Amino acid sequence: MYDHYKRQINYLRVSVTDRCNLRCTYCMPAEGIRLLEHKDILSFEEIVEVIREAVSLGVAKVRITGGEPLVRKGILSLIEKITAIQGIRDFGLTTNGILLPEFAAGLAKAGLHRINISLDTLDPEKFRTITRGGDIRKVFKGIEAAKKAGLTPVKINCVVRNSSDEPDATAVREYCRENGLEARFIHEMSLSDGRFTIVENGHGGDCKNCNRLRLTASGMIRPCLFDDIQFSARELGIRTALEMAVGRKPERGGVNVTGEFHNIGG
Ligand code: 5AD
Ligand code: SF4
Repeated sequence: MYDHYKRQINYLRVSVTDRCNLRCTYCMPAEGIRLLEHKDILSFEEIVEVIREAVSLGVAKVRITGGEPLVRKGILSLIEKITAIQGIRDFGLTTNGILLPEFAAGLAKAGLHRINISLDTLDPEKFRTITRGGDIRKVFKGIEAAKKAGLTPVKINCVVRNSSDEPDATAVREYCRENGLEARFIHEMSLSDGRFTIVENGHGGDCKNCNRLRLTASGMIRPCLFDDIQFSARELGIRTALEMAVGRKPERGGVNVTGEFHNIGG
């Protein structure tokens, strides 16, 4: 699929839940969020249908996101169903890592190719503050488990306040170098202010070369993280929603006041 600006659209990011087992300060309010009702969340069958249709239209790269995807019940069986779709050459998942010690081997066995893990600091106390209660030891264990399971290259997403030279980011960079991990630095963003920049070492935020569509947990196809436009796969039909999203993909991002990271999936 090509959009109006001759960008080839071949990457679908799939949010499978709006729930999370952490409450990162830059992502969620302390009291949490109003969660989607069960009936509004796509079933595994619906998710697989959207991915299948997207792949038939040229998508070859799929990434599972959240919220935190590993809290969705039965996630391994969803991964297996997606693995069975012919035509996906790159199949990844983004996680906060907390549940990875338990899930890494199963994810690899279910056919996932690789994993991205969020880690903004190496300091256990700071980690606890940023995530409002998270235990960093689980993330370190999760990273080891992911490497052992062969979910490589393991990439680390590090959100930075101002620059990737700040001390926490420098420590994360060094840790990644020592442990054979790829570090990516993401400037903290505000969707509703339209403040976003290119991900260092990654691809996000680069409008000219953007190849992405997103599927939210409630079945909306969104062509841009920094725009409110979205098309309901349930209401319009999957193919129409996908084609309309590609047809209306904005040339560049602006502001988004109807979505948040926890329900669009970063
Ligand atoms: N700014 C930048 N990145 C964010 N993420 C969540 N909220 C924000 C924000 N406000 C990203 C984190 C995490 C991923 C799931 O989403 O990088 O790794
Ligand atoms: Fe959860 Fe990720 Fe948001 Fe943190 S950034 S609260 S881990 S979804």
